[in-house]
Amino acid sequence: MSTHETILVARDGAVATITLNRPDKLNALNETLLGELSAAFGELEDDASIQAVILTGAGDKAFAAGADIGAMTEMSPTQAHAFAAKGHAVGARVEGARFPVLGAVNGFALGGGCELALACDFLYASDKARFGQPEVNLGVIPGFGGTQRLARRVGIGRARELCYTGDMIGADEALRIGLVNAVVPHAELLDRVRATAKKIASKGPLAIAQAKRVLLRGEGLPLTAACELEAQAFAALFTSHDQREGMKAFLEKRPAKFEGK
Ligand code: COA
Repeated sequence: MSTHETILVARDGAVATITLNRPDKLNALNETLLGELSAAFGELEDDASIQAVILTGAGDKAFAAGADIGAMTEMSPTQAHAFAAKGHAVGARVEGARFPVLGAVNGFALGGGCELALACDFLYASDKARFGQPEVNLGVIPGFGGTQRLARRVGIGRARELCYTGDMIGADEALRIGLVNAVVPHAELLDRVRATAKKIASKGPLAIAQAKRVLLRGEGLPLTAACELEAQAFAALFTSHDQREGMKAFLEKRPAKFEGK
């Protein structure tokens, strides 16, 4: 695994943890970080031993407090478009990874930080977490997919309110509107996310990958087409060792030994 300037990558068996690591800038997302994040996802995708990834932020205060405002100040429209495209590419990489990506939101998730969190499969938040799309305070709008993924996650009315007011919401409100799946005492956040990641990593990797793909791709399809996609993925799993092993193990009353094939 390469060494990085702005992120940390750690592996624990089948679970890898990527930590955004610019704590003195509240893990603000600059070009270097986006590039390193994308490269790290590429390397983890190529590593067949990895079955789940956790994304979190270094330090006690932030997951990520946004795209790097200092780096954006003097951008031309062309440079701003390229920066947004880079943010979108990272979001697509996280969202489309073959393994689930669990966001452990340990503090501020604002602007691009909230958008990156939204690209994760689901989020657990520390009770100290704060979410928001404050771009309108800077005279711009979310540029890393926030207008779209936030609306899909919490509904368009709430997305509009967050994007137009720039207001921050706390973890409990984020839970109430379905932005996060759970709120956990700050000190327990990573242990809780790791436990869920390990549980996911213990299942059949092919089944998890198909569940992820169908849930993601089905969202944009009419229901009948999405159900057909599900049926095809369900059927494809019946060509696998893991399907035979999983069902046989159930009947034999023993834990399954999945091999990802
Ligand atoms: N881009 C660049 N630097 C950022 C940043 C961002 N999005 N968010 C925070 N930082 C930097 C601050 O400039 C400061 O750096 P400095 O110590 O060199 O001055 C450092 O991180 C700590 O931030 P600070 O503002 O002092 O912390 P705080 O606890 O007083 O406030 C926030 C925390 C999150 C409320 C505040 O930093 C903030 O509003 N950040 C911007 C959020 C935003 O608008 N994000 C969307 C960007 S599109």
